[in-house]
Parts: sequence; C-alpha cells; structure tokens
Amino acid sequence: PNAAGKQLPRIYVTRRIPPRGMKILRQSGLCNIEQWDSDEPVPRSELLEKVAGIRGLYCLLTEKIDAKVLDAAGPSLRVVSTMSVGYDHVSLEELKKRGIRLGYTPDVLTEAVAELTVALLLATSRRLLEAVDEAKNGGWGTWKPLWMCGYGLTDSTVGILGLGRIGAAVMARLKPFGVKRFLYADAGPRPDMATKIPAEFVPLDELARHSDVIVVCCALTPETQGICGNSLFSRMKDTAIFINTSRGGVVNQEALYQALVNGQIAAAGLDVTEPEPLPTDHPLFKLKNCVILPHIASATVATRNAMAALAASNLLAGLQGKAMGKEVPL
Ligand code: DGY
Repeated sequence: PNAAGKQLPRIYVTRRIPPRGMKILRQSGLCNIEQWDSDEPVPRSELLEKVAGIRGLYCLLTEKIDAKVLDAAGPSLRVVSTMSVGYDHVSLEELKKRGIRLGYTPDVLTEAVAELTVALLLATSRRLLEAVDEAKNGGWGTWKPLWMCGYGLTDSTVGILGLGRIGAAVMARLKPFGVKRFLYADAGPRPDMATKIPAEFVPLDELARHSDVIVVCCALTPETQGICGNSLFSRMKDTAIFINTSRGGVVNQEALYQALVNGQIAAAGLDVTEPEPLPTDHPLFKLKNCVILPHIASATVATRNAMAALAASNLLAGLQGKAMGKEVPL
C-alpha cells in the first residue's frame, strides 16, 4: 500500500536491469515491483506463474509474449514494456485483442547499433579476426603482397536492407569512408530518410547485384522472415560482404552457409543469429569468412541504461493511462 493506504498495482520485471531503469521504477511510488533477480532469463514456467494479476510487464527480447503469457496475466494487465527496439518477440495481435499497450525503446540505441555495425563491417571486410589469429598462432610469415587481403570501402556501393533510423545512421557513418553510392531496399521508398544521404531506392534483386556490401537493418516481420536466402546470395557479387545486425530470422542460415562455403559471397558478419545463443558447434563458427558476435550491437553502458530508463518510463506512463515516450501503435 502507498501512503494513502491504497493498494499499488503490481508489475513484474523479467530480469535484473541497468540501474537507471530500476531507479525510475522504484522512485515512482506508483507500483509494487516483483523481479526475476538474475542476469539469466526467467524460466517460462516461472514467468507464467509470476504474471498472474499484474498491471504491467517489463520484459526483454528473450521473453516470448504470446497468448499464453497474456492469459496467465489475466485482465488486470494494461501495459507491456520491452527494453528493446525490436518487438518481434511480442504478439501484437494478442495485445490488441486485449487492449494492452506496448512500449519499446527506439532512438536511444540508434548510434550504438550503427557504430557496432560499422565495426563489424570493417572487422569482416578487412579480416581482422583471422589476422589476429594468424599473428598470434604463427601464421605470420614474411610480408606477402596478397596475404590477408580483404575489401575496402573507398569507391564502393553499399546497399542497406531496411532504411529506418539505424540504416540511415549506418550510412551517415560510412560516408566518410569514401563510399561512392548508397542503395536501399525496403517495402517502399523512404524519401524522408534517403534524400539527405542520398540513397537510391532499388528492388532487392538490384541491391544484391550492385552492392559491394549489404547491411541488413530491417525489423523481423512475417514479410522479412528468411528474406536473405539463396535468391539474394546467388545474385550478390562473389567479392561482396554481408552484414546483419537486425534479427537472425531475417536470414536463411543454411543458404548463407552455402554461399560462404561455395564462394558466392566473400564474407559475412553477424551480430544476430537463429537461435541465440548459436550452438558452439554450429557450422558457421567453423568458417574463417564468417564473423559472429553475441548480439552486442546496443551494448554500451550508456545505451543500455538509456534503454532501461525509457522502458521504465514507458511502463509507468502505461500504468497511469498517459502518453508513453515511445509506444508501438497497435
Ligand atoms: C533491440 O533493442 O531490439 C536489440 O536487438 C538489442 O538492443
């Protein structure tokens, strides 16, 4: 109960979250907080039990928020707030049916994700991890003209699949590297995003054919599920670099594996896979021309705190029936 003796609504937080987020929730005096106090995801059975009767759910991208969870929560649930910009783990249809609102965390992570995307691109195109290994493990013989050669960005064509906030931020960061031409493919032209770069809207086939680098920055939706498959890879240049920092589900990994093994494309850099974590014995880990990171694109201390804070204030706004800072229209 609060000072007035009123019972506060209960919320459930599915993980230990960065301190700025927790502080906002605690200091609000607007809710009773229950939390899965661990760095590991809450077991599904525990989640189903703990959500019963809550008013708000603060979750991460690791929790599948579907009809089962929403039914377990019951009619008290008014708001779900995810500490992520992606919300493919949340069933929008089921939320809508029940009149539950959804908060998410765009904008605050754009710079961090774009920065990591550029880092992953350079690590992949200039073969940094392979080179570090060679230096350490005795592969570094004498200086050789064509040893460890990769591909540069000067005069290149970069194709972005999905021109949103992150895609535009990636292009802005790549421009000073001397990229000659920016292309993008999306559900339709995005002049609001493309004009200032500038970037040309092209069909996906053309993006594949003309790009020296393809960077995937789109959301995972039924339309983009597996969109990067054999038909894309077979049209790409055999010198091209493929980068994905969006969601693993956008890529047909078997097709990617074949493209990398058969030399259809030069190399790939992935910050996201399907599943996550990718099993350590997965064939993609055996390839020298595949750089795999453990989903760290937004992982700066400041960004993760900003995400946690935005998700907290979204949740509080939802509890009070107020406008959220960032809400997914349903
Ligand atoms: C997101 O927010 O959706 C990212 O995948 C993690 O930052």
